[in-house]
Amino acid sequence: MQFVLIEPNIAENYAILRLNRPRELNALNLQLMQELRAGLQLLDADDNIRCIIITGNERAFAAGADIKQMQERTAIDMLKIDQFSTWDAIRKTKKPIIAAVSGFALGGGCELAMLCDMVIASETAMFGQPEIKLGVMPGAGGTQRLTRAVGKALAMEMVLTGRFIDANKAYQFGLINKIVPVEYYLQEAITLAKEIAQLSPLAIRLAKESVNKAFDATLNEGLEFERKNFYMLFASQDQKEGMAAFVEKRTAHFEGK
Ligand code: HXC
Repeated sequence: MQFVLIEPNIAENYAILRLNRPRELNALNLQLMQELRAGLQLLDADDNIRCIIITGNERAFAAGADIKQMQERTAIDMLKIDQFSTWDAIRKTKKPIIAAVSGFALGGGCELAMLCDMVIASETAMFGQPEIKLGVMPGAGGTQRLTRAVGKALAMEMVLTGRFIDANKAYQFGLINKIVPVEYYLQEAITLAKEIAQLSPLAIRLAKESVNKAFDATLNEGLEFERKNFYMLFASQDQKEGMAAFVEKRTAHFEGK
């Protein structure tokens, strides 16, 4: 892999995927996105890994899709390349993904952060959907996920003007989970990943699916889905272990069985 580095921590059951095109502010070219998909698939299939962090560097999480790569494309090129099948595959990752964001998260970079399950941001993080300034519009979920996250007023303002918002505003509007000083944003994401990695991976997987269901189901369908997942977990050893540990006043050890 050239543009995505995999940094697994087997002992602590998490892994970091680091976007690695620093000179281009981690602009998301097709190769980078394919590597990201491959990395996520690898980690999703690895029982030693229970939580995944996607990060960039201090200056940029990702400044969007690679404009230079897209510049001369026709609509038919875009149709044939079908880059969003990569995004669809990423969306299907079963394990929880935390975005650790510092600096620019713009266009596809903001959309990638929103595709993650939680976002830890540094004080310098800037979020935006500036595609409108390029004569296009968001294409990887920006009009949908941003609107659901921050509401219509701010989403319209960001999408129609290309204005950025800083970490404080992103936090205020529920786009991100936490803001920390720049030297700690990755460490904070690791702390969160380690906490999740100690829980039952089966319960985590079904809980993630159930929360996501809230975005594309009616309340009734969502409640039915939640209930079936809840029942299903009673077939796991992790449920027996978790409840026994509570009763016996000890720490539970979940094996994902
Ligand atoms: C290609 C990019 C890039 C991008 C930055 N670079 N963003 N290259 N695609 N999205 C390159 C610059 O060309 C430059 O390389 C180098 O990274 C450093 O960037 P500078 O502009 O010199 O840095 P700075 O002045 O600090 O400005 C930072 C910035 C600006 C505000 C983030 O780079 C910027 O506006 N970038 C584009 C942001 C954007 O419009 N994103 C949306 C893309 S469309 P050189 O070699 O020239 O010095 C999109 C659609 C998503 O994301 C669809 C789904 C995938």
